Order: sequence, then structure tokens, then C-alpha cells
Amino acid sequence: MKQFLPVLLFGAAAAALAPVRAAGTDGEISFEYHRYDELRKALVSVWLQCPTITRIYTIGESLEGRELLVLEMSDNPGTHVPGEPEFKYIGNMHGNEAVGRELLIYLAQYLCNQYQQGNETIMDLVRNTRIHLMPSMNPDGFERAAFQPGEIKDWFVGRSNAQGVDLNRNFPDLDRIIYINEREGGANNHLLQNMKKAVDENTKLAPETKAVIHWIMDIPFVLSANLHGGDVVANYPYDETRTGSTHEYSASPDDVMFKSLAKAYSMYNPVMSDPDRPPCRKNDDDSSFTDGITNGGAWYSVPGGMQDFNYLSSNCFEITLELSCDKFPSEDTLKTHWEQNRDSLVNYIEQVHRGVKGFVRDLQGNSISNATVSVEGIDHDITTAKDGDYWRLLAPGNYKVGASAPGYLTLIKKVAVPYSPATRVDFELESLVERKEEEREELMDWWKMMSETLNF
Ligand SMILES: *[C@@H]1O[C@H](CO)[C@@H](O)[C@H](O)[C@H]1NC(C)=O
Ligand SMILES: *[C@@H]1O[C@H](CO)[C@@H](O)[C@H](O)[C@H]1NC(C)=O
Ligand SMILES: [Zn+2]
Repeated sequence: MKQFLPVLLFGAAAAALAPVRAAGTDGEISFEYHRYDELRKALVSVWLQCPTITRIYTIGESLEGRELLVLEMSDNPGTHVPGEPEFKYIGNMHGNEAVGRELLIYLAQYLCNQYQQGNETIMDLVRNTRIHLMPSMNPDGFERAAFQPGEIKDWFVGRSNAQGVDLNRNFPDLDRIIYINEREGGANNHLLQNMKKAVDENTKLAPETKAVIHWIMDIPFVLSANLHGGDVVANYPYDETRTGSTHEYSASPDDVMFKSLAKAYSMYNPVMSDPDRPPCRKNDDDSSFTDGITNGGAWYSVPGGMQDFNYLSSNCFEITLELSCDKFPSEDTLKTHWEQNRDSLVNYIEQVHRGVKGFVRDLQGNSISNATVSVEGIDHDITTAKDGDYWRLLAPGNYKVGASAPGYLTLIKKVAVPYSPATRVDFELESLVERKEEEREELMDWWKMMSETLNF
């Protein structure tokens, strides 16, 4: 991940951009499409407006050399603060699905404006969360789609990357591995552990996919959504069916929480949650949709998608948002799309503060990274990050949560989880070496006492 240097890239132009789109209200967000250069400028102008809470970086390049830009928002941009969860939005993975790309630019502008205006909700969110916004994962595809003349865009042009790869079918198919592991035993998380080299050497992976895989593996993301278009629904794992059939409800171990997360998005979007909304097109099969959400497999099976990859390769829970019937609607509808999605976009980020969170340490207070945090009854463990910090998203209920690490005694705690905020639960693990030492001392004490009592 290299640091993006807007000053070098834009030089004097960056300074000249400063007064444009200065702090203002919602009204000053410019509801228009942003081509590649305009996207860069829009992100830089947010950075110039809110330099203390933003940073721009790039995770790599598209096939044609466009940067995969990310705008980060946090009160400590550039650093993971121990205990603070990380969140991401990815837009425009299908280059011709343009609404998500624009909404993420507007979201960046909105968060910056609201922070500057002292909006407590937004200030709390930015102070307690590290938010990463990637408006476009497929900038090459977008340019192809946008290049078409006229308002009506072809349904497929620009969907894939410049090599013709559909990025949402290009991720390692970890569903197939988890379905085998479910039957025959095996890991239930981090299925790509110790395989970074294999990823780098895999020639079937597009550069955009590889960059995102590294990003997912390098940052301890907790929650994410990827933004699409062509329908209106919040879709949750699994996307690929167990049997390979086209339509089949495919529950993940976290089905209850995923439904709750998807609803946290759909319920603030009046179009998505409308039970009487007609299907986008006459022949669309929306029979799996309820309350504006759907299980991925129940809708249609997607192998090699990014959503399931997040869940199976990292601690990150991801859902897929379909935001508009038209993939590339006319520019004058963008403001309406923003208004329909604004509260959902903010509310969904807030979901990162649910469940159980805390630290796993040893008895001396040293953090234990890569410790396993497991929940009884849910066959999907998560692991601690570098500082021993962890976030375990959970729906309301009573749980037994355990922490374990090689060389330590496992510790299990009972936890009551409300809807939000997350319940803080720290674990102090006793090392097995210490335990043996303790037992030896206890035995010695007992022996000494016996000897004294018996007087020999
Ligand atoms: C503050 O932000 C929240 C979340 O986006 C929003 O619902 C609320 O209306 C904002 N408050 C003001 C005064 O604009
Ligand atoms: C984390 O732990 C697992 C097993 O407990 C191990 O296979 C893996 O190599 C560890 N990862 C790191 C980065 O240490
Ligand atoms: Zn899509």
C-alpha cells in the first residue's frame, strides 16, 4: 500500500482547488458524475477541506494504470488505533454500475462537511471508527461505460475490467473450501492463511482483485459493503450455494447477524424497504427479497465473489448493496439516489460498533495477536489484530465467548449483548508454562506443610 502524494501529483492545482466546494451544507455537494480525473480532484478537495481527519492512499493500479484510490476518514488518519474498528465501502466494482461510485464521493463530502459543522453523530463516528472509502474498484470499466455517447448506456459495456474479467467472479472461491470443511472438518475462518505468495503468483487474478485481496488481508477490517447497481436490495452471505444449484438459501454461520446488518441498510432506504416496490424489470425474480434484503444464494448463486471472500479470508463481514434499477442512470437522478441512501450509508457504518469487542492479553498485560475468539454455537471464529484487539459482530442475545491461543489456557466468558453499542470483554490468558510453574509451587507448598505437620 503506498502513500498517495496529491501535492506532488497536482502541484499548484491542488492549492487552487482549495476554495472549491468549501465547507457547506448538503446542498453544496455537486451531484454529478465524476470521470477519473474528476474523481481524483473530488477526493483531493475533501482532503484539503478536512486535512486533519482524512488521508488519500492507493492500494494499487488497474490494468490500464489508473489508481485504486481510497479516502480514509478517522481522527488519526494513517494509523490503526488499538481497539478502534475499521470499516470499508467499495464502489463501482462493476465499472458500469455507477451510482455507488458517486454515492461514496458524496459520502466523503458529507462526512467532511458535517464534521466541520460539529454534527455530534458524525464527529463520534469519525472519532471512533477508521473509515475507508474506495469509490471505484474498476476505474477502467467505468471509463468505458462513461465514454458511450448519450444518456442510455449499454447493460454490459464496462462491467468487466480492461481484460474482460468480471471482478466479482474473480476472487478465490473459498465457499467451495468451507463447504468441504463443514462436512469433513477443517478451518472455519482465514482460509487463505499463509497463502499470500500463491495469490501473488496466480495469473488468473486481475490486478484489481489482487490489490483488494492484499488490502483485505493487511487491514483488520470488521465490516464492509460493496456497492452495485441493476437492482435494489441488500444481499448477504453466502452468495454461492452449497449444492451448486442456481437458487438455494445458503446460510452462513452468522446468518442472524448478516440479516440484521442488511436490514440496518435497507430499512433507512425508503425504496429498498418498500414492500410494494415493483421489480426493476418485468421478468426479474425478486421472490427471495423480504424487507429489502436477500440471501445471496437464494437470489442466484455467485461463485468467486468478493463478499464471501471477505468473510472466509479475514475477520471482515461484507454485504453487497444493489442501489438502483438503472446501472448508469441519468445525472439528474443522482441527488435523489443520494437522498434515498444517505441515512443508510451512515447507519450501516455505525453497525461496526455492535457485538463484543476488547483485547486479549497475557497475565503481564502483553497483547496476544492472532488469538482465536470463538462463540459457542457459531461455527466461525475471528482472530485478534496486532495489538490483541478484536471485534466480534453479534446480534442481541446471551453468548459464551472464548479466547484461546497456542500455549495459553482457553478462557470462556458469558456475555449479554444488546443491539448496540458493543459490549467490552477483555481476556487475560494464563500461559501454560505459568500454570505448570504454579502447580509445581502448590505441590511444593503442600509437601512442605505435610512434612511440617508430620514432623519428618
Ligand atoms: C447529523 O448527521 C446525522 C447522520 O447523518 C443526520 O441524521 C442528522 O440530520 C445530522 N444533523 C444535522 C443537524 O444536520
Ligand atoms: C495465526 O494462527 C494460525 C493458527 O492458530 C496459524 O496457522 C497462522 O500461521 C497464524 N498467523 C500468523 C500471521 O501468525
Ligand atoms: Zn454488480
